[in-house]
Amino acid sequence: MNFLLVIARFILVLYFSIYGLIHLLLFLTPETARYLIFMNYVNWPMRDLQNPPKYELNNVHNFYLDVEADVRVGIWHYIPEPLEYNFTKHGQNNLKEHFERYFKIHDRRPVVLYVHGNDRDRSDYGRMKLCKSLSELGYHIFAIDYRGYGDSTGTPSETGVVNDVLALYNFIKAYQNETKIFFWGHSLGTGISSHAAKILSDFNAPPAGVVLEAPFFNISQAAKEHLAAPLILNNPWIVRMGEEALLNLNIHFNNAENVLKSKTKFLILHAEDDMFIPQDRSRDLLKICNEKRPTDYPPVKLVEFHKRFGLGHGKIYTHKEIYPMIKDFIEN
Ligand SMILES: *[C@@H]1O[C@H](CO)[C@@H](O)[C@H](O)[C@H]1NC(C)=O
Ligand SMILES: *[C@@H]1O[C@H](CO)[C@@H](O)[C@H](O)[C@H]1NC(C)=O
Ligand SMILES: *[C@@H]1O[C@H](CO)[C@@H](O)[C@H](O)[C@H]1NC(C)=O
Repeated sequence: MNFLLVIARFILVLYFSIYGLIHLLLFLTPETARYLIFMNYVNWPMRDLQNPPKYELNNVHNFYLDVEADVRVGIWHYIPEPLEYNFTKHGQNNLKEHFERYFKIHDRRPVVLYVHGNDRDRSDYGRMKLCKSLSELGYHIFAIDYRGYGDSTGTPSETGVVNDVLALYNFIKAYQNETKIFFWGHSLGTGISSHAAKILSDFNAPPAGVVLEAPFFNISQAAKEHLAAPLILNNPWIVRMGEEALLNLNIHFNNAENVLKSKTKFLILHAEDDMFIPQDRSRDLLKICNEKRPTDYPPVKLVEFHKRFGLGHGKIYTHKEIYPMIKDFIEN
């Protein structure tokens, strides 16, 4: 009995310390909100991102792109099967040699830029599995660690991470202007992908299409609905402070607005048992598109997965039935 009391007290003290600390930090600086949204400090140490064969990836080339003077982002290029890649031989090829080899000469294979969600990096197990499966369909996959993640330098901001993705997009386009390039965003990555697509649409050069896996409606709503919200955003005062912090930091990730304004097709995937972002948010996106998206824009399609599949927030890639669907989306 005594023992239980000690434990209960410990948990209570821990709870109020974390709660108090986060509130204090939010009060002291809006920067706290940046870290809560991006969570890029949550990572496995000692990942060897320069050495994809270590993760049983034998057709993956690691390279870096200098986006700004002090921002260098790490990227894995999954080379589709029939094209030859030998890490021992080509692993150290510089950017120019690499792109000349795979883009200048052959290729009209579709390209997918994979934009992962918050925390961890491009070597996360599920991210690797998805990218590998997509490359087995015959596409070039580029998995980017936008600034602040993995071995990329810089501090994340909405403008910054969107810029990183656009820099990679433009770099590929510069080699092969007729290659179809798609975005695939997961979770926070949906906010980045739809924003990038919207900017390209503004320049009248939208991407070939966008897959949004487990998207939210906008980031402030996603934060309020997050599993951890009852621990942090649990009174109106702190909610307002969080919202102001995001405004100050210019962090919106407004999927709703960006999907409405992007002149490209969208495929939305969402599991019923997603505990982080409710499936209803994808339905909200579809609803607002049906109401407000110009009718001459390419379609927005939603595919939902029953909870009996147990796909949750991050396992849609394990569902074999998505691959024919993706193939159809990309090739037709
Ligand atoms: C890869 O290249 C190295 C060095 O050129 C060579 O020794 C090796 O046999 C090659 N591996 C394959 C599978 O072709
Ligand atoms: C792609 O580049 C080629 C050669 O530079 C040019 O002739 C062609 O018009 C370009 N296509 C597009 C879609 O921009
Ligand atoms: C974010 O979504 C919520 C819920 O749909 C909505 O009330 C709010 O106006 C949205 N914020 C912006 C900036 O669109």
